[in-house]
This record gives sequence, C-alpha cells and structure tokens, in this order.
Amino acid sequence: MKTPASLVLLALLGYFVASIQAYWLADIEHQGYAPFAGDGYAVFRNVKDYGATGDGVTDDTEAINNAIMDGNRCGEGCASSTTTPAIVYFPAGTYLLSSSLLPAYMTQMIGDPNSPPTLKATAGFQGQGLINGDPYYTQDLNWLATNVFFRQVRNFVLDTTGIDAGTLAYGIHWPTAQATSLQNIQFVMPTAAGVAHIGLFIESGSGGFMTDLTFTGGAVGASLGNQQFTMRNMAFDSCTTAISQLWDWGWTYYGLSIANCAVGINVTAGGSAAQTVGSITVFDSAFASVPVGILSAFVPGGASQPETAGSIILENIVASDVPVLVQTNDGPVLTGSGDAGGTVTIAAWGQGHDYVPNGPTPLQGAFTGNTRPASLLGGGNAAADAAGVLGGYYARSKPQYENLRACHFFSARSAGAKGDGVTDDTAALQRVIDYATATGNVAFIDYGLYLVTDTLVVPPGARIVGEAYPVLMAGGSSTFASDSNPQPLLQVGAYAGQPGAVELSDFVLGTQGAQAGTILIQWNLDASGSAAPAGLWDVHTRIGGFAGSNLQAAQCVKDPQQTSVDTACIGAFMSMHVVAEAAALYAENVWLWTADHDMDDGNNTQISVYTGRGLLLEAAAGTVWLVGTAAEHHQLYQYQLAATRDVFMGQIQTETPYYQPNPLASAPFEANSTYGDPDFAALCAADTTGTCAMAWGLRVVASADVLVYGAGLYSFFSNYAQTCIAGRSCQARIASLEGLTGAVNIYNLNTIGATSMIDQDGASLASAADNVNVFPDTIALFQS
Ligand SMILES: *[C@@H]1O[C@H](CO)[C@@H](O)[C@H](O)[C@H]1NC(C)=O
Ligand SMILES: *[C@@H]1O[C@H](CO)[C@@H](O)[C@H](O)[C@H]1NC(C)=O
Ligand SMILES: *[C@@H]1O[C@H](CO)[C@@H](O)[C@H](O)[C@H]1NC(C)=O
Repeated sequence: MKTPASLVLLALLGYFVASIQAYWLADIEHQGYAPFAGDGYAVFRNVKDYGATGDGVTDDTEAINNAIMDGNRCGEGCASSTTTPAIVYFPAGTYLLSSSLLPAYMTQMIGDPNSPPTLKATAGFQGQGLINGDPYYTQDLNWLATNVFFRQVRNFVLDTTGIDAGTLAYGIHWPTAQATSLQNIQFVMPTAAGVAHIGLFIESGSGGFMTDLTFTGGAVGASLGNQQFTMRNMAFDSCTTAISQLWDWGWTYYGLSIANCAVGINVTAGGSAAQTVGSITVFDSAFASVPVGILSAFVPGGASQPETAGSIILENIVASDVPVLVQTNDGPVLTGSGDAGGTVTIAAWGQGHDYVPNGPTPLQGAFTGNTRPASLLGGGNAAADAAGVLGGYYARSKPQYENLRACHFFSARSAGAKGDGVTDDTAALQRVIDYATATGNVAFIDYGLYLVTDTLVVPPGARIVGEAYPVLMAGGSSTFASDSNPQPLLQVGAYAGQPGAVELSDFVLGTQGAQAGTILIQWNLDASGSAAPAGLWDVHTRIGGFAGSNLQAAQCVKDPQQTSVDTACIGAFMSMHVVAEAAALYAENVWLWTADHDMDDGNNTQISVYTGRGLLLEAAAGTVWLVGTAAEHHQLYQYQLAATRDVFMGQIQTETPYYQPNPLASAPFEANSTYGDPDFAALCAADTTGTCAMAWGLRVVASADVLVYGAGLYSFFSNYAQTCIAGRSCQARIASLEGLTGAVNIYNLNTIGATSMIDQDGASLASAADNVNVFPDTIALFQS
C-alpha cells in the first residue's frame, strides 16, 4: 500500500512530539554514581537498551532480567547490599514474560507514568509472580523478608489473563519490609468461574506501604500476610475475594473501594480456635454489591483464640447493596444495607477489647468514633472518593512530575557534586537546590553518597527528587559532632515558621562516622497558607549499617557484655524534628532507622549504633499526617509529640534499641529539657528492677486531637536476648500520655515485649497480659 506523503509527515511529527515528551526520567542525562559498585556501573537502565522490545510478541523476560542484574548486583545468594542500586525503566509497551522478573536488592522498577507499560504473561508462564519481589532462593524466608528494604515498583499494568484461569498465578510476590512501595499498578486477571489467580501475594515480612492499586478479576485481589502495613487507595472489582488476610499483627487500610466481589475482606484464617490475623483497621472505604463485607472468626469474651485476635475497627464505611458488613461464625454481627439494598454509612464499629480509657471491656458493636479536625480532611484516595466516601482524610501520592520535561530537572552532579562519599558536596548541593527552586524547576539528586559538612537549607517552593535513594551524609567536619550543640543536616525552611511548602521524595539522610550532634531533618515550614501541605514521600533516615557510613560491623560491634558505650558509634542526635512553628506537613512512607544490623555485611551482622531521638513533633498548630511511617532503635523515644494537635498517624511502627537496657535509655545521651526529653531519672527514681529506663515507642505530652489508626510498638530484645518476649518483660512500659490537653485515640494498639501497653501520667492503664493476641497484645479501641 502506498502511503500519502502528508500522512508520513504527520506520523513523523507525531513521533517527534511523542519523543520530546518522553517521561523526564528517561530523557535526563544519567549520571548516577555508585562509589562502591566498580567502574562503569550504571545506576539507570532502560530495558530497551538491553534488548527488550515491548512489542507484545517477543519474550522479553531474559532481556529485562539482564537489565536488572547488569553490574554484579545483589541477587541470589546475597542477603542485602546498598552498594549496587538501580532504576530499571520501562518505556510504554507490552512486555511478554514467560517467567518472573527478579528485582535484585535496591531495585526500583519504574514504568512511564504517562503510558504505563504492560507486563503480560505467556500462556505457559512459570514463576511466582510476573514480578517476584523477593524470591526464596536458599535463605530463611522470614529473616530475608524482614530485611528486604528499599525497593519500589510503580506505573505498571500486570496482566495474567494469558495464563489459564484455573492455574494458580500471581501478579506480584512481595514479601518485603520497611522503605518499600508499590504505586500506581493495575492487576488484570481473568474473571472466569473457577479462576485461581491472585493479584498481590505477600506471606511474610515487616512492611511497609503501598498505594494507588487496582485489581480486576481473580480469585483473590490481594492475599496478605506480614507484620504490618499501611495501604490506601486500592480498588477491587470482580475479584471473588478482594482481600484475603493470611496473618498479621496490625494492618491499616483506607481509601478502599471493593465492588462486585463475593467477599470483601476475609480475616478468618486459622479459624476461631487459632486465629492468625491479629487486627485490621479500615476507614474511609466503600463496599458495593458485596454480599459479605468482612468475614471474621472472632467471638467475643474469649470464645475465639487468641482472645483479641481478629480485632477490627471500622470508621466511615459506605456500604451499598451489602447485606452483611461483618459476618462471624455467629452470623451477621454488623448489618450493611440489609436485604433491601440501598446505601448506609457506618460511622464507627469495632470488635476486640476497648479501653475508654479503662478496660479491658469486650467490644463488638458501634462506638463513638473520632471527632476529626476539619483541617485533616480533604479526600484524595481516588477509589473511595469515586465510590462516594465523604469526609475522608486528606491524602496525596508521591508526585512523579509526569507533565514536566527533562529540561526542568537540574542535576546535583551537573552542578558539581561528586557523590563519592569523600568530596565535600555541600556547596554544590545547596547551589542546585537554590537554583532549581528559584527558577521553578526540580532539583534532581543523582544516585551517590554525598558528604555534607554544613547544614543544607531547603527553601519554600523547593521540589527535590532522588535517583534510587541517594544518601546525604553529615560528616567531614566538626559541625555535627557535638550533642550540646546539635545542628540540622537538612533544614527545611530557612527559619522556624517560614511560610511555604515543598515536595521532597526518594532520598536518604545519614551520617558518616560518629556525629552526635546531627538532627538529620529539621522541619521549619508552615504550609498552612499554601495550596497544598508540604510533602515528604519515601524520604528515610538511615544511621549506620551501610557502606560509607563507617558505622558498620567492623566498627560498631555488638557486645552484650559491654560496660560502656563506644563513643565512635554515636551516630546522631535525632532523626527528625518538626518544630513548634511548623504546620501542615504530609509525610508518607518515611522510615527513621538507626541500623540494628549492617546491610553490607554478608551475614547481616548486628551492630550497636546510638541515636538520641527518633521523631520529635512539636508543631503547635499541627495539621500533620504521618502515613505509613516507622521509627526504630532510637535511644530516648521513637515518636514524641509535644504540645501539638491535629495529628493523623497510621500505621505507626516502632522498635526499641536491641542493646537496651545495656545501656539504659538514660545513656549515652542525657536528657535535655530544650528538646523536652523524657526524664528517666525522675520516672525511675524508685525503680528496683534496673530496667526501668527504656525507650518510649510513643510519648504524647500536652497534645490534643492525636488520632492514631494502627500502631505497632515492639520491644523484641533485652540486651540482645529475646527470652523476654514471652513474659512481656523486655520493658516495663512503652507508650506514655502525659498532661493531655485533648483527645489521644488509638485504634488497634499492638505492643510486643512490654508489660504495660499504655500509661497515663505515670500510671499503667493496660496490662499486656490482659490483651493477648497472635504475637502482639492488642487493644482494638483506646480513647483517652
Ligand atoms: C476465608 O479464608 C479462609 C482461610 O484463609 C478460607 O479457608 C475460607 O475458605 C475463606 N472463605 C471464603 C468464603 O472464601
Ligand atoms: C541542650 O540543647 C541546647 C539547644 O540545642 C544546647 O544549647 C545545650 O547545650 C544542650 N544542653 C546540654 C546539656 O547538652
Ligand atoms: C558468614 O558467617 C560465616 C560464619 O561465621 C562465615 O563463614 C561466612 O564467611 C560469612 N559470610 C559472609 C558472606 O560474610
């Protein structure tokens, strides 16, 4: 056939327009530098450069796996490594797969968000998921999964419809832990009767966060077992069961839309005699045309075991044509719209134990839910918004800048930063942040380890995005060394209360060597007058435990016999400080981690590194969302809220340092009243156990309207021994409310290893032994 010249021209023009509008991440100069990965190591890989076609016909499996593994990366036989990170980029297209894609440690698989690529299974597909995010290899599964940090998958369509509907098949296998994420993924499965496909399969790990997922068809949309997770904005349509909960300690779901499924959420695993699901918290969600919203094996009053397993909290649930919202072995315990159809909204309902604030009282029924501060609302979970959920909490996914072009991204390395972990990159980083912001562009931090010798100031209006989690490390000078003169590494806002907002995503803050005076992030901005809250997505602190930190297995040896702290292993003063004058901060998937082990040691050897404080939140006018955040292994506390208000938290997760009580939480940092530190000397003056002073998981002082949707506060060790867990004697107490000025409510408070689950003004309100769950102890409903 002869094509008219004008059509050829049009086609060429179309091609030209498409190519100049390619996603910026593909078009920018790729200069990421991994200093420990060897010469010529490529951080960014476009699968097409490795021979993948995306033509929907050719088997692209091998080419893509070659793109992933290029450069001797951490795959089979490797527990973890931070030294060989990679972005594996997929342009638009349909990539035919005959076996699993196997992301190595520190892989981000990113599709073009403007035209998400499809990963399509062949009829004869073999493997555990189109993406097997954590292959079993030969390592112990649980150890492996709980140490699978720092990986992402975003912007894909996963299509298993090519596989026989009756054959067990998975979209993604994702047993992972903190600082991982799935974002903007569609799972497309057959809808045939007898279908056996499962979209998302997680059976282990310590997560985690995910958002913006849709599931169509399949036997189960998401089959989920893991310690804890926060998941929001997920739509399920025509799955036989939308969510099958295999086991958990705590799980926070919001912004769900479940439609046309036989069962919404099935939490009966193990049956009444031996339930394996600890608790779920579900809010701002819709069920439509679902005969049974939630299927549970819980029976109140200890008739199901463990006694608090199967705890459920529901708040702001819209049910349309849902005869039964919660069904147990006793029959319906929460009616939805009844047999007549129609729509009802369930304000608040729960089962488990409640403390209001005294208990335990058996709960199975409606309760008075949170009075939500208007400032925290606004919706943003598109699935639930579309399904008619009103009054939902504000949410916003990590920006991907789909509409910007490569010329809008200003590279740190182009600005002269080296990222080699040795050169002082302070001036170059400050230059690129300032220049990008002043010109309305985005500062791009190419992968690297950037040594920073003085505070970096982030001005209002800044947008900063990292490539594969670059690390900004405080060190190389005396600036950050003194705990009597702490200084911020990243100071967001030039002064406390500076008006304006920012968007920060995908990078890590750390220290190099002992830096006892480092505050890794200091948040000064007041974004209450801005169009949107200031945002922080996938920005983490990582203190020690990685190559370049000089706080590794070789330096910071774990020693339960020690009689003093090695001051060379005092990593930082505080992970993050939100000052009193700051307001309107949205933080999503943020993990504040003082390393308990060395990620670059082949055996993941445990280490003792000391950081004074986790997150100190003082914003007096509040309006703070902490979505899927965690804080671990800080000396005095993990989360401390002081004189703040209007705070949304869910799911929060903490761990007490493994070395405590050797030393106790009173050392090596001493309490400093300027920071409102807990005064363990006073609290423990009359203590005779010698183990009184242990880090708080959560401490809330003089605050109001703090609404926690899921909390896991864990104490797994006593001076590195785990024998204390069973007797709940790793620490005496773990959560403290002091001098409250308003409500502090916690849904599904889970604690491990603590004798008292929550204290108010020095007195225990709840004994853990009264609230036994699958592994943690659980209070479904706590209201102060
Ligand atoms: C619910 O889950 C349990 C255990 O995972 C399973 O045995 C049961 O068949 C499921 N129920 C339905 C109705 O799918
Ligand atoms: C307490 O913190 C303040 C403010 O950073 C500092 O000036 C002071 O030296 C600290 N006190 C001690 C005892 O370290
Ligand atoms: C792990 O520890 C074992 C026993 O101490 C040792 O033989 C082995 O070499 C270590 N493996 C790595 C990868 O460091």
